[in-house]
Amino acid sequence: MTMGTAKINGIHLAYTDQGRGTPVVLLHAFPQNRTMWTPQVEALSKTHRVIAPDFRGFGESDAPQGPYRLDQFADDVAGLLDYLSIQWAVFAGLSMGGYTAFAFYQKYRDRVRGLVLADTKAQADTEEGRAGRFAMAQTAYTKGASAIADIMLPKLLSPVALQTRPELVQQVRARIEQTRVSGIAGAQMAMAERPDSVPLLAKIACPTLVITGELDGPTPPADGKLMAGKIPSARLEIIPQAGHLSNLEQPDAFNRVLIEFLKEIS
Ligand code: MLT
Repeated sequence: MTMGTAKINGIHLAYTDQGRGTPVVLLHAFPQNRTMWTPQVEALSKTHRVIAPDFRGFGESDAPQGPYRLDQFADDVAGLLDYLSIQWAVFAGLSMGGYTAFAFYQKYRDRVRGLVLADTKAQADTEEGRAGRFAMAQTAYTKGASAIADIMLPKLLSPVALQTRPELVQQVRARIEQTRVSGIAGAQMAMAERPDSVPLLAKIACPTLVITGELDGPTPPADGKLMAGKIPSARLEIIPQAGHLSNLEQPDAFNRVLIEFLKEIS
């Protein structure tokens, strides 16, 4: 396994690069980092080359003052792939990672061999949602990352997981608390400004898998159905008994559908 740092677009970007074979790029959620993909890196790297970056502002990457933009995240990913001499890959993005996958597809579609859109949505924010993001950025600066963890945990995990899986809760909380406030605020601004990707859906030409946790609150199955309904070559998998971070709540089921999809498109 390689865990490295590359100088990309003026910042240090941290990444994991594990395994050999067709490259699969895993794009993490907010406010997490690449370590949220540990169960997927372990499973997929037996047969694929798995690349998982920390977005700017997260994990071990630099966290310059924002606001950030999602197409800047996409540029960072493209720069990392150039650095690693990878021309194309399969991209899997969860939530904010999915928003980034849309931005990447918009700009670099020739580099996308397949797309996995997990627990994410194509619609832009509502006015209310946007206002909530400005409030969260302010909370990050005034109260720190642990206040963000209090707000985010009930969104990221299902009620059952929150009550019965203390280790998972602690792991997700720790990742939030390690996130710098410049990263939290910068990414909130990026997500607030993201465009509506619904018009893009019909133009997505690569094989696509949409995954949604049955109990996902922030991006419920209806959002997954909308994407799968409009993307010509997409299918939808609902993961039973999983909340928003479906890859962590039900890693075996998540990995099963992901591996099946990778086999189909290989
Ligand atoms: C995420 O999990 O990345 C966030 O819930 C995305 C968002 O805030 O829209």
